[in-house]
Amino acid sequence: MKIMLVGNGGREHALAWKLSQSPILREMILAPGSDAMAVYGRCVAVAADDVAGLVQLAALEQPDLVVIGPEVALAAGLVDQLAELEILAFGPSAAAAKLEASKAFTKDFCQRHNIPTARSKTVATDMAAHAYLETLPGPYVLKADGLAAGKGVVITDELAAAKQAASDMLGGQFGAASAKLVIEEFLSGEEASLFVLCDGTSAVPLVGAQDHKRAFDDDQGPNTGGMGCYSPAPVLDALMTAKVMDEIITPTLRGMKQEGAPFVGVLYAGLMIDQTGPKLIEYNVRFGDPEAQVLMRRLQSDLLPVLLACANGSLADVPALHWDERPAACVVMATKGYPGKVEKGSKISGLERAAATSNVEIFHAGTKQDETGQWLANGGRVLNISAMGDDLAEAVNHCYAAVDLIDWPEGFCRRDIGRRALTN
Ligand code: AMP
Ligand code: GLY
Repeated sequence: MKIMLVGNGGREHALAWKLSQSPILREMILAPGSDAMAVYGRCVAVAADDVAGLVQLAALEQPDLVVIGPEVALAAGLVDQLAELEILAFGPSAAAAKLEASKAFTKDFCQRHNIPTARSKTVATDMAAHAYLETLPGPYVLKADGLAAGKGVVITDELAAAKQAASDMLGGQFGAASAKLVIEEFLSGEEASLFVLCDGTSAVPLVGAQDHKRAFDDDQGPNTGGMGCYSPAPVLDALMTAKVMDEIITPTLRGMKQEGAPFVGVLYAGLMIDQTGPKLIEYNVRFGDPEAQVLMRRLQSDLLPVLLACANGSLADVPALHWDERPAACVVMATKGYPGKVEKGSKISGLERAAATSNVEIFHAGTKQDETGQWLANGGRVLNISAMGDDLAEAVNHCYAAVDLIDWPEGFCRRDIGRRALTN
């Protein structure tokens, strides 16, 4: 098979690494891919959000399957346009991608289909926002309706700060994405993510994962795209996974189909779990980053036929997936300053040595190579150090042993990945 993989981050590196092991893969085109991903196929310089360019590339290359990593092109209708060319894609249509692209849509959808989630109200004016905030006990949770690159959520204990945040967002902080806000009740409990493959009708749950969103140790500092993660998520045991499937995922797939937007691709359910059961915090319509990295480490089955089955509606015929029982962990190394502005171009040494340590795979999230072969940092999140272990502590130790072999003074990482699960 010939596939085209869209994206250039650590998530896509991990997907490329896994897909490259498929016995049925003949050729991989990476759009745009990265210097580190070039070992898996041919990189073509088309940006992951350039829908017209991606459609043109697919029309030229005629891949048997397009696998799409990030959400922007999905929300902009890449899969719809590929369907017009009769090119199969692993990912949702624009209508189905609204589960991520509009939090207001998802909240209404949950209400229509009786899916447990935080109570909320969607507002479009300061007056409505302030009035609703005054009815809530706090902490206050405010979310931009549209895509805001993971930055569109504000949680604060102070009513005045919540009102100010509402006014800032409605005043255009995230452009059109914050023309509407979802204000919702604060949920407490244990957070975990479940990833579910879908073909529009059938669903196959993958394993769970837990992410560390804050930039610094002990969950301090600003929210980021994710500084590290581990799988499995202890709170998502078989029983809880079945409950999430029954109460959240199955009604979602049924509802999306009923509403004329069957969901194809990977549904990423962000969950809050307490003694009353699971509640949906949010949906994403793509793999998590860095969660995909640990999922790909643990998946033993061939990924390619499964993604193809999602795209062509035959997921029910796919044999059960096999997973490595051992936990996997992933530590993200980022350029100092992330998630704020960062300098690009600092030198990274010792990667070969680090990659050679026991059980370690290094996925590149934002690097490039200069003409001498020297690796350089090329963004905020730069490297994902992943490892497996007989238990989570061992997986994490392998990760940090590799981190310590990397010479990159301009980089940093959290030193407490997995600690939450280890101390429970
Ligand atoms: P989201 O982008 O919706 O996943 O929100 C980002 C993060 O904010 C989540 O991963 C949670 O840690 C937190 N969060 C979002 N909504 C709530 C809520 N209703 N109650 C408590 N925490 C929340
Ligand atoms: N790691 C969180 C995300 O991919 O959205």
